[in-house]
Amino acid sequence: MNKQILDSFTKDALEAARANNTYRSMRLMETPESSHVKIRTANGVSQEQILLASNSYLDLANIDELKQAMAQAVLEWGTGSGGARLTTGNKMPHQELEEFIAKFKGEESAITFNTGYMANVGTISSLCGKNDFIFSDELNHASIIDGIRLSRAKCFVYKHNDMADLRRVIQEAEKSRTYAPTSPIPHKLIVTDAVFSMDGDLANLPELLRIAKENDCLLMIDEAHATGVLGKTGRGLAEHYGCAHADVTVGTLSKAVAAEGGFVAGPKQLTEFLKNKSRSFIFTTAMAPAVAAAACNNLRYIDAHPERVQALRDNVKFFYESLKREGVNVEQSPSAIVPIVIGDEAKAMQVSAKLQELGILIPAIRYPTVAKGQARLRASLMATHTKEQLQTAASVMADLIRHLD
Ligand SMILES: Cc1ncc(COP(=O)(O)O)c(C=O)c1O
Repeated sequence: MNKQILDSFTKDALEAARANNTYRSMRLMETPESSHVKIRTANGVSQEQILLASNSYLDLANIDELKQAMAQAVLEWGTGSGGARLTTGNKMPHQELEEFIAKFKGEESAITFNTGYMANVGTISSLCGKNDFIFSDELNHASIIDGIRLSRAKCFVYKHNDMADLRRVIQEAEKSRTYAPTSPIPHKLIVTDAVFSMDGDLANLPELLRIAKENDCLLMIDEAHATGVLGKTGRGLAEHYGCAHADVTVGTLSKAVAAEGGFVAGPKQLTEFLKNKSRSFIFTTAMAPAVAAAACNNLRYIDAHPERVQALRDNVKFFYESLKREGVNVEQSPSAIVPIVIGDEAKAMQVSAKLQELGILIPAIRYPTVAKGQARLRASLMATHTKEQLQTAASVMADLIRHLD
Protein backbone atom coordinates (compact mmCIF):
# COMPACT_ATOMS: atom_id res chain seq x y z
CA MET A 1 0.00 0.00 0.00
CA ASN A 2 1.42 3.37 -0.97
CA LYS A 3 0.65 5.56 2.05
CA GLN A 4 1.91 8.69 0.33
CA ILE A 5 -0.50 8.31 -2.55
CA LEU A 6 -3.39 7.59 -0.20
CA ASP A 7 -2.50 10.73 1.79
CA SER A 8 -2.48 12.82 -1.36
CA PHE A 9 -6.07 11.78 -2.05
CA THR A 10 -7.48 12.09 1.46
CA LYS A 11 -5.38 13.95 4.03
CA ASP A 12 -6.05 17.58 3.05
CA ALA A 13 -9.80 17.13 2.92
CA LEU A 14 -9.89 15.48 6.34
CA GLU A 15 -7.64 18.12 7.89
CA ALA A 16 -9.75 20.89 6.38
CA ALA A 17 -12.92 19.29 7.76
CA ARG A 18 -11.34 19.09 11.23
CA ALA A 19 -10.20 22.72 11.02
CA ASN A 20 -13.61 24.12 10.06
CA ASN A 21 -15.71 22.00 12.41
CA THR A 22 -17.28 19.88 9.68
CA TYR A 23 -15.55 16.55 10.38
CA ARG A 24 -18.14 13.79 10.55
CA SER A 25 -18.15 10.70 12.69
CA MET A 26 -20.74 8.10 13.60
CA ARG A 27 -22.60 7.56 16.81
CA LEU A 28 -22.85 3.96 18.04
CA MET A 29 -26.21 2.74 19.30
CA GLU A 30 -26.51 -0.22 21.65
CA THR A 31 -30.27 -0.61 21.33
CA PRO A 32 -32.78 -0.59 18.43
CA GLU A 33 -34.27 2.63 17.10
CA SER A 34 -37.04 3.87 19.38
CA SER A 35 -38.00 6.97 21.38
CA HIS A 36 -35.62 5.89 24.12
CA VAL A 37 -32.19 4.41 23.30
CA LYS A 38 -28.78 3.61 24.75
CA ILE A 39 -25.69 4.93 23.01
CA ARG A 40 -22.05 3.97 23.47
CA THR A 41 -19.92 7.09 24.10
CA ALA A 42 -16.39 7.50 22.71
CA ASN A 43 -14.92 6.29 26.01
CA GLY A 44 -17.02 3.15 25.99
CA VAL A 45 -19.68 4.23 28.47
CA SER A 46 -23.32 3.32 27.95
CA GLN A 47 -25.68 6.32 28.07
CA GLU A 48 -29.49 6.46 28.11
CA GLN A 49 -31.04 9.02 25.79
CA ILE A 50 -34.44 10.34 24.81
CA LEU A 51 -34.10 10.11 21.02
CA LEU A 52 -35.35 13.14 19.13
CA ALA A 53 -33.36 12.43 16.02
CA SER A 54 -34.96 9.52 14.25
CA ASN A 55 -36.60 9.29 10.84
CA SER A 56 -38.61 6.33 12.12
CA TYR A 57 -41.46 8.76 12.74
CA LEU A 58 -44.15 6.19 13.51
CA ASP A 59 -41.79 4.00 15.55
CA LEU A 60 -42.82 0.87 13.68
CA ALA A 61 -39.41 -0.84 13.94
CA ASN A 62 -40.21 -2.29 17.36
CA ILE A 63 -43.76 -3.52 16.99
CA ASP A 64 -43.75 -7.24 17.80
CA GLU A 65 -46.27 -8.23 15.15
CA LEU A 66 -44.20 -6.46 12.44
CA LYS A 67 -40.90 -7.93 13.64
CA GLN A 68 -42.43 -11.40 13.63
CA ALA A 69 -43.81 -10.90 10.13
CA MET A 70 -40.33 -9.96 8.90
CA ALA A 71 -38.75 -12.94 10.68
CA GLN A 72 -41.34 -15.18 9.03
CA ALA A 73 -40.46 -13.69 5.63
CA VAL A 74 -36.78 -14.49 6.23
CA LEU A 75 -37.71 -18.11 7.01
CA GLU A 76 -39.78 -18.27 3.85
CA TRP A 77 -37.56 -16.34 1.42
CA GLY A 78 -34.06 -16.64 2.85
CA THR A 79 -31.54 -13.91 3.53
CA GLY A 80 -30.94 -12.42 0.09
CA SER A 81 -32.48 -12.09 -3.37
CA GLY A 82 -29.61 -13.57 -5.40
CA GLY A 83 -30.02 -11.44 -8.51
CA ALA A 84 -31.09 -8.20 -10.12
CA ARG A 85 -34.83 -7.64 -10.57
CA LEU A 86 -34.51 -8.19 -14.31
CA THR A 87 -32.56 -11.44 -13.98
CA THR A 88 -33.56 -13.78 -11.11
CA GLY A 89 -34.08 -11.40 -8.17
CA ASN A 90 -37.74 -10.55 -8.72
CA LYS A 91 -39.71 -12.45 -6.09
CA MET A 92 -43.34 -12.42 -4.98
CA PRO A 93 -42.72 -9.99 -2.07
CA HIS A 94 -41.30 -7.40 -4.49
CA GLN A 95 -44.39 -7.54 -6.63
CA GLU A 96 -46.77 -7.49 -3.66
CA LEU A 97 -44.94 -4.46 -2.26
CA GLU A 98 -45.18 -2.55 -5.53
CA GLU A 99 -48.87 -3.33 -5.87
CA PHE A 100 -49.51 -2.15 -2.34
CA ILE A 101 -47.49 1.07 -2.74
CA ALA A 102 -49.52 1.92 -5.86
CA LYS A 103 -52.75 1.33 -3.94
CA PHE A 104 -51.59 3.25 -0.87
CA LYS A 105 -50.44 6.20 -2.96
CA GLY A 106 -53.52 6.14 -5.18
CA GLU A 107 -51.45 5.66 -8.35
CA GLU A 108 -51.71 3.27 -11.25
CA SER A 109 -48.34 1.67 -10.64
CA ALA A 110 -45.17 1.67 -8.52
CA ILE A 111 -41.60 0.47 -8.87
CA THR A 112 -39.16 -0.06 -6.00
CA PHE A 113 -35.44 0.68 -5.77
CA ASN A 114 -32.99 -0.44 -3.08
CA THR A 115 -32.93 3.01 -1.47
CA GLY A 116 -34.66 6.36 -1.84
CA TYR A 117 -31.30 7.74 -2.94
CA MET A 118 -31.22 5.28 -5.84
CA ALA A 119 -34.84 6.07 -6.73
CA ASN A 120 -34.08 9.78 -7.11
CA VAL A 121 -30.81 9.30 -8.95
CA GLY A 122 -32.21 6.65 -11.29
CA THR A 123 -35.44 8.48 -12.04
CA ILE A 124 -34.05 11.93 -12.80
CA SER A 125 -31.11 10.64 -14.83
CA SER A 126 -33.30 8.45 -17.00
CA LEU A 127 -36.09 11.00 -17.52
CA CYS A 128 -33.76 13.86 -18.49
CA GLY A 129 -30.74 14.18 -20.76
CA LYS A 130 -28.32 16.87 -21.75
CA ASN A 131 -30.75 18.86 -23.89
CA ASP A 132 -33.36 19.08 -21.13
CA PHE A 133 -34.16 21.66 -18.44
CA ILE A 134 -34.57 20.85 -14.76
CA PHE A 135 -35.97 23.36 -12.24
CA SER A 136 -34.86 22.47 -8.73
CA ASP A 137 -35.57 24.01 -5.30
CA GLU A 138 -32.33 25.25 -3.72
CA LEU A 139 -32.90 23.09 -0.62
CA ASN A 140 -33.54 19.82 -2.43
CA HIS A 141 -31.98 16.66 -1.02
CA ALA A 142 -28.50 15.54 -2.16
CA SER A 143 -29.96 12.54 -4.01
CA ILE A 144 -32.01 14.88 -6.23
CA ILE A 145 -28.94 17.01 -6.86
CA ASP A 146 -26.88 13.95 -7.75
CA GLY A 147 -29.63 12.71 -10.10
CA ILE A 148 -29.60 16.08 -11.86
CA ARG A 149 -25.81 16.00 -12.19
CA LEU A 150 -25.91 12.50 -13.62
CA SER A 151 -28.58 13.49 -16.15
CA ARG A 152 -26.33 16.29 -17.53
CA ALA A 153 -29.48 18.36 -18.07
CA LYS A 154 -29.28 22.13 -17.68
CA CYS A 155 -30.28 22.87 -14.10
CA PHE A 156 -32.00 26.08 -12.98
CA VAL A 157 -32.13 26.40 -9.20
CA TYR A 158 -34.98 28.48 -7.76
CA LYS A 159 -35.09 30.10 -4.33
CA HIS A 160 -36.47 27.87 -1.63
CA ASN A 161 -40.24 27.47 -1.97
CA ASP A 162 -40.39 30.75 -3.93
CA MET A 163 -42.97 30.24 -6.66
CA ALA A 164 -42.31 33.66 -8.26
CA ASP A 165 -38.65 32.70 -8.56
CA LEU A 166 -39.61 29.35 -10.11
CA ARG A 167 -41.62 31.22 -12.76
CA ARG A 168 -38.62 33.50 -13.31
CA VAL A 169 -36.15 30.63 -13.89
CA ILE A 170 -38.59 28.90 -16.25
CA GLN A 171 -38.65 32.08 -18.35
CA GLU A 172 -34.88 32.35 -18.13
CA ALA A 173 -34.57 28.78 -19.43
CA GLU A 174 -36.94 29.57 -22.27
CA LYS A 175 -34.74 32.52 -23.30
CA SER A 176 -31.62 30.35 -23.27
CA ARG A 177 -33.19 27.93 -25.75
CA THR A 178 -31.83 27.66 -29.28
CA TYR A 179 -34.48 27.58 -31.95
CA ALA A 180 -32.50 26.13 -34.86
CA PRO A 181 -34.70 23.66 -36.81
CA THR A 182 -32.44 20.77 -35.83
CA SER A 183 -32.26 21.55 -32.11
CA PRO A 184 -34.32 19.18 -29.97
CA ILE A 185 -37.26 20.47 -27.92
CA PRO A 186 -36.15 20.26 -24.29
CA HIS A 187 -38.16 18.27 -21.77
CA LYS A 188 -38.83 20.36 -18.68
CA LEU A 189 -38.92 18.89 -15.18
CA ILE A 190 -39.72 20.64 -11.90
CA VAL A 191 -38.39 18.67 -8.95
CA THR A 192 -38.80 19.28 -5.24
CA ASP A 193 -38.73 17.65 -1.83
CA ALA A 194 -42.26 17.36 -0.41
CA VAL A 195 -40.99 17.94 3.15
CA PHE A 196 -37.62 19.69 3.30
CA SER A 197 -35.42 17.55 5.44
CA MET A 198 -33.53 20.25 7.35
CA ASP A 199 -36.39 22.75 7.73
CA GLY A 200 -39.45 20.53 8.01
CA ASP A 201 -41.50 22.87 5.79
CA LEU A 202 -43.61 21.75 2.81
CA ALA A 203 -43.51 22.30 -0.93
CA ASN A 204 -46.48 24.27 -2.25
CA LEU A 205 -48.00 21.45 -4.28
CA PRO A 206 -51.14 23.26 -5.52
CA GLU A 207 -49.07 26.12 -6.93
CA LEU A 208 -46.41 23.78 -8.34
CA LEU A 209 -49.14 21.86 -10.17
CA ARG A 210 -50.44 25.13 -11.64
CA ILE A 211 -46.98 26.29 -12.75
CA ALA A 212 -46.14 22.87 -14.22
CA LYS A 213 -49.37 22.89 -16.22
CA GLU A 214 -48.97 26.43 -17.50
CA ASN A 215 -45.40 25.76 -18.63
CA ASP A 216 -45.65 22.19 -19.97
CA CYS A 217 -43.36 20.85 -17.25
CA LEU A 218 -43.40 17.44 -15.63
CA LEU A 219 -43.66 17.68 -11.83
CA MET A 220 -41.73 15.30 -9.56
CA ILE A 221 -41.90 15.32 -5.76
CA ASP A 222 -39.82 13.40 -3.25
CA GLU A 223 -41.99 12.23 -0.35
CA ALA A 224 -39.17 10.77 1.75
CA HIS A 225 -40.34 12.63 4.89
CA ALA A 226 -44.00 12.86 3.85
CA THR A 227 -45.06 9.23 3.46
CA GLY A 228 -46.64 8.04 6.72
CA VAL A 229 -46.51 11.59 8.07
CA LEU A 230 -48.61 14.02 6.02
CA GLY A 231 -52.35 13.88 5.47
CA LYS A 232 -54.97 12.31 7.71
CA THR A 233 -53.89 8.77 6.79
CA GLY A 234 -50.21 9.41 6.02
CA ARG A 235 -50.54 9.22 2.26
CA GLY A 236 -48.43 12.31 1.74
CA LEU A 237 -48.43 15.82 0.36
CA ALA A 238 -51.45 15.54 -1.97
CA GLU A 239 -53.57 14.23 0.90
CA HIS A 240 -52.33 17.08 3.10
CA TYR A 241 -53.47 19.71 0.60
CA GLY A 242 -56.43 17.76 -0.76
CA CYS A 243 -55.16 18.38 -4.29
CA ALA A 244 -54.06 16.37 -7.34
CA HIS A 245 -50.87 14.31 -7.33
CA ALA A 246 -47.57 15.24 -8.98
CA ASP A 247 -46.77 13.36 -12.20
CA VAL A 248 -43.93 11.48 -10.52
CA THR A 249 -43.89 10.65 -6.81
CA VAL A 250 -40.70 9.32 -5.26
CA GLY A 251 -40.50 8.06 -1.70
CA THR A 252 -38.52 5.97 0.72
CA LEU A 253 -39.41 2.91 2.76
CA SER A 254 -36.64 3.65 5.26
CA LYS A 255 -38.18 6.44 7.32
CA ALA A 256 -41.78 6.31 8.62
CA VAL A 257 -42.20 2.87 6.98
CA ALA A 258 -39.24 1.64 9.07
CA ALA A 259 -37.84 -0.83 6.51
CA GLU A 260 -35.54 -0.10 3.58
CA GLY A 261 -35.88 0.82 -0.06
CA GLY A 262 -37.17 3.58 -2.30
CA PHE A 263 -40.08 3.80 -4.71
CA VAL A 264 -41.54 5.70 -7.61
CA ALA A 265 -45.32 5.81 -8.01
CA GLY A 266 -47.20 7.08 -11.04
CA PRO A 267 -48.66 5.93 -14.36
CA LYS A 268 -47.83 2.43 -15.59
CA GLN A 269 -45.93 3.85 -18.55
CA LEU A 270 -43.59 5.69 -16.16
CA THR A 271 -42.73 2.58 -14.13
CA GLU A 272 -42.27 0.52 -17.32
CA PHE A 273 -39.94 3.23 -18.61
CA LEU A 274 -37.90 3.16 -15.39
CA LYS A 275 -37.72 -0.63 -15.49
CA ASN A 276 -36.17 -0.33 -18.92
CA LYS A 277 -34.01 2.75 -18.50
CA SER A 278 -33.07 3.41 -14.92
CA ARG A 279 -29.50 2.26 -14.29
CA SER A 280 -29.86 2.25 -10.49
CA PHE A 281 -32.79 -0.15 -10.93
CA ILE A 282 -31.23 -2.35 -13.60
CA PHE A 283 -27.63 -2.75 -12.48
CA THR A 284 -28.02 -3.77 -8.87
CA THR A 285 -29.13 -6.81 -6.91
CA ALA A 286 -32.76 -6.70 -5.81
CA MET A 287 -33.45 -5.88 -2.17
CA ALA A 288 -33.79 -8.97 0.02
CA PRO A 289 -37.33 -10.37 -0.36
CA ALA A 290 -37.77 -10.28 3.43
CA VAL A 291 -37.06 -6.55 3.39
CA ALA A 292 -39.68 -6.09 0.68
CA ALA A 293 -42.13 -8.16 2.74
CA ALA A 294 -41.36 -6.07 5.85
CA ALA A 295 -41.89 -2.81 3.95
CA CYS A 296 -45.21 -4.11 2.64
CA ASN A 297 -46.38 -5.31 6.08
CA ASN A 298 -45.40 -2.00 7.67
CA LEU A 299 -47.23 -0.02 4.98
CA ARG A 300 -50.33 -2.15 5.54
CA TYR A 301 -49.99 -1.37 9.25
CA ILE A 302 -49.94 2.38 8.52
CA ASP A 303 -52.99 1.92 6.30
CA ALA A 304 -54.85 0.15 9.12
CA HIS A 305 -53.71 2.55 11.89
CA PRO A 306 -54.29 6.19 10.94
CA GLU A 307 -54.39 6.95 14.68
CA ARG A 308 -50.64 6.40 14.70
CA VAL A 309 -50.22 9.25 12.18
CA GLN A 310 -52.50 11.41 14.34
CA ALA A 311 -50.43 10.60 17.47
CA LEU A 312 -47.32 11.86 15.67
CA ARG A 313 -49.11 15.07 14.72
CA ASP A 314 -50.32 15.59 18.30
CA ASN A 315 -46.76 15.15 19.55
CA VAL A 316 -45.37 17.72 17.11
CA LYS A 317 -47.99 20.23 18.30
CA PHE A 318 -47.32 19.48 21.97
CA PHE A 319 -43.54 19.86 21.50
CA TYR A 320 -43.99 23.19 19.69
CA GLU A 321 -46.28 24.51 22.43
CA SER A 322 -43.85 23.37 25.15
CA LEU A 323 -40.92 25.09 23.43
CA LYS A 324 -42.96 28.28 22.99
CA ARG A 325 -44.00 28.24 26.65
CA GLU A 326 -40.32 27.96 27.55
CA GLY A 327 -39.55 31.02 25.40
CA VAL A 328 -37.73 29.25 22.55
CA ASN A 329 -37.96 30.91 19.14
CA VAL A 330 -39.46 28.18 16.96
CA GLU A 331 -42.09 27.86 14.25
CA GLN A 332 -44.91 25.34 14.23
CA SER A 333 -43.87 22.53 11.91
CA PRO A 334 -46.35 20.94 9.49
CA SER A 335 -44.20 17.77 9.44
CA ALA A 336 -42.36 15.67 12.04
CA ILE A 337 -39.19 17.77 11.75
CA VAL A 338 -38.78 20.71 14.12
CA PRO A 339 -35.71 22.89 13.48
CA ILE A 340 -34.47 25.17 16.26
CA VAL A 341 -32.09 27.57 14.53
CA ILE A 342 -29.11 28.62 16.66
CA GLY A 343 -27.05 30.23 13.87
CA ASP A 344 -23.46 29.87 14.96
CA GLU A 345 -21.94 26.42 14.19
CA ALA A 346 -19.92 26.12 17.39
CA LYS A 347 -22.86 27.18 19.61
CA ALA A 348 -25.19 24.67 17.97
CA MET A 349 -22.59 21.95 18.57
CA GLN A 350 -22.23 23.10 22.17
CA VAL A 351 -25.98 22.88 22.90
CA SER A 352 -26.26 19.48 21.21
CA ALA A 353 -23.29 18.08 23.16
CA LYS A 354 -24.70 19.42 26.45
CA LEU A 355 -28.12 17.94 25.66
CA GLN A 356 -26.49 14.57 25.08
CA GLU A 357 -24.70 14.78 28.45
CA LEU A 358 -28.13 15.35 29.98
CA GLY A 359 -29.66 12.37 28.18
CA ILE A 360 -31.39 14.04 25.22
CA LEU A 361 -30.22 13.28 21.71
CA ILE A 362 -30.92 16.10 19.25
CA PRO A 363 -28.22 16.51 16.61
CA ALA A 364 -26.77 19.82 15.50
CA ILE A 365 -26.92 20.27 11.74
CA ARG A 366 -24.37 22.61 10.27
CA TYR A 367 -22.60 23.64 7.10
CA PRO A 368 -22.37 22.10 4.50
CA THR A 369 -25.72 20.34 5.18
CA VAL A 370 -27.29 23.77 5.81
CA ALA A 371 -26.03 27.24 4.84
CA LYS A 372 -23.20 28.82 6.85
CA GLY A 373 -24.50 30.64 9.95
CA GLN A 374 -27.76 28.66 9.86
CA ALA A 375 -26.66 25.86 12.18
CA ARG A 376 -29.56 24.34 14.02
CA LEU A 377 -30.78 21.66 16.33
CA ARG A 378 -32.95 19.37 14.26
CA ALA A 379 -35.49 17.61 16.40
CA SER A 380 -37.56 14.91 14.78
CA LEU A 381 -40.50 13.42 16.58
CA MET A 382 -42.04 10.00 16.88
CA ALA A 383 -45.62 8.91 17.44
CA THR A 384 -44.53 7.14 20.64
CA HIS A 385 -42.75 9.96 22.48
CA THR A 386 -44.50 10.55 25.78
CA LYS A 387 -45.62 14.05 26.74
CA GLU A 388 -43.20 13.83 29.67
CA GLN A 389 -40.23 13.11 27.37
CA LEU A 390 -41.17 16.02 25.13
CA GLN A 391 -41.69 18.44 28.02
CA THR A 392 -38.34 17.45 29.54
CA ALA A 393 -36.55 17.97 26.22
CA ALA A 394 -38.20 21.37 25.72
CA SER A 395 -37.31 22.64 29.22
CA VAL A 396 -33.72 21.43 29.12
CA MET A 397 -33.16 22.84 25.64
CA ALA A 398 -34.66 26.21 26.57
CA ASP A 399 -32.43 26.42 29.62
CA LEU A 400 -29.29 25.66 27.59
CA ILE A 401 -30.18 28.19 24.89
CA ARG A 402 -30.87 30.89 27.54
CA HIS A 403 -27.43 30.36 28.99
CA LEU A 404 -25.45 30.36 25.75
CA ASP A 405 -22.45 32.70 25.90
C1 LIG B 1 -35.59 14.13 1.02
C2 LIG B 1 -34.86 12.82 0.96
N1 LIG B 1 -34.87 12.11 -0.20
C3 LIG B 1 -34.26 10.92 -0.29
C4 LIG B 1 -33.57 10.38 0.77
C5 LIG B 1 -32.88 9.07 0.58
O1 LIG B 1 -33.65 8.03 1.05
P1 LIG B 1 -32.96 6.65 1.52
O2 LIG B 1 -32.47 6.86 2.90
O3 LIG B 1 -34.03 5.63 1.42
O4 LIG B 1 -31.84 6.43 0.57
C6 LIG B 1 -33.52 11.09 1.98
C7 LIG B 1 -32.81 10.61 3.19
O5 LIG B 1 -32.17 9.67 3.37
C8 LIG B 1 -34.18 12.33 2.08
O6 LIG B 1 -34.14 13.03 3.22
